[in-house]
Amino acid sequence: MKSISITSGKGGVGKTNISINLALALAKRGLRVLLLDADMGLANVDVLLGIHAERTLYDVVTNDLSLRDILVHVSDHLDLLPAHSGVLRLERLSDTDRTRLVDELDGLCEGYDALLIDTGAGIGENVLFFNDLADRVLLVTVPEPTALTDTYAMIKILNRSYGVDSMSLIVNQAATAAVAANVHEKLEEVSDRFLGLSLALAGSLPSDPAVCSAVQARTAVLEHDGESPFARGIRAMAARLASELEGLPRRQQSFWRDWIERQLRTRALSNQPRSQLHSHPECEEPSTLQNKH
Ligand SMILES: Nc1ncnc2c1ncn2[C@@H]1O[C@H](COP(=O)(O)OP(=O)(O)O)[C@@H](O)[C@H]1O
Ligand SMILES: [Mg+2]
Repeated sequence: MKSISITSGKGGVGKTNISINLALALAKRGLRVLLLDADMGLANVDVLLGIHAERTLYDVVTNDLSLRDILVHVSDHLDLLPAHSGVLRLERLSDTDRTRLVDELDGLCEGYDALLIDTGAGIGENVLFFNDLADRVLLVTVPEPTALTDTYAMIKILNRSYGVDSMSLIVNQAATAAVAANVHEKLEEVSDRFLGLSLALAGSLPSDPAVCSAVQARTAVLEHDGESPFARGIRAMAARLASELEGLPRRQQSFWRDWIERQLRTRALSNQPRSQLHSHPECEEPSTLQNKH
C-alpha cells in the first residue's frame, strides 16, 4: 500500500475535487483505493460525492468505533473514510487521537493499494501530520502570487521541520500548459536554491466549467463529464501516478512503525537551536516568488 496526500498552502485551490477525481481515476485503473477525508473540521468529500455519511471520523475518536465501522463504499475499488464538519475535536486532534487513527489505519490499509489523503490547507498541525504520513505529497497550487508564496511556505516547513523530501506539484486552474510550466519552474527553482529539494510536476489542470457543474450535481467530474478537459487531465495524472507508485519501494515496516520513526526524526530536527536554523543563508525568504510571473 502506498499513501499519497493532496495538500496546499492556500485554501480553495481545488484539493478536494482533485482528490476525489484522482481517487476515482486510480480505482478505474484497477487499484484498490481508500480515500481519507482529512480536512478535519471542514470536511466535504462526502458532500461533493453526494453521500450522506451516518458515521464519521468523529465517531472513531469519540465513540471508540473502528475505521471499518465508518467505511463508505463509493464505487468499484473505491472506499471513503468520511470526516465531520464543524467540530473542534477533529480540528484539534490530540496526540492520543492521532495515535489511534494511525494504529487503525495500519490494519485497514492492508486491503488497499493506495491511500489518498485529502488534507486541509496551510501549516496547521493536523495538515502537517497527515502529510507526514504520506509516501508522496502532492502540493496543489493555482497560478497566483499569493498561492505560490503559500506553497513555498508549505514546502519549506514540510522539508525543514518534518524531513519530507518527496513532493510533487499540481498546478490547477492554469490557463495554458505554458503557465503551469512557468509556475512549476519558479517553485522548483526556489526549492532547489534554498532547500536543495527537487520538485517534480505531477500535472496541470485547466480551469474548467465542468468542475463547477459537477460540484453542483454533487458528483465527481469523471462521472459528470468524463470527456471534459479537467477529467482528461486527471486521467493523465492518474496514469503517471500509478506507474510511479509501482516504482516506490514497498514498505519494509508497518505504517505505524514507519510513522513513529518519522516522529522521532522530526523531534531531532526541531531540537536544533532555532538561531542555528535562522542564521543559515538557505533559510532566507525567496523574493523571486513575489515577482510577476
Ligand atoms: N480546475 C478547476 N476549474 C474550475 N473550477 C475549479 C477548478 N478546481 C477547483 N475549482 C473550484 O474551486 C472551488 C474550490 O475547490 P475545492 O476542491 O473545494 O478546493 P479545496 O479543497 O482546495 O478547498 C470549488 O468550488 C470548485 O468548483
Ligand atoms: Mg477541500
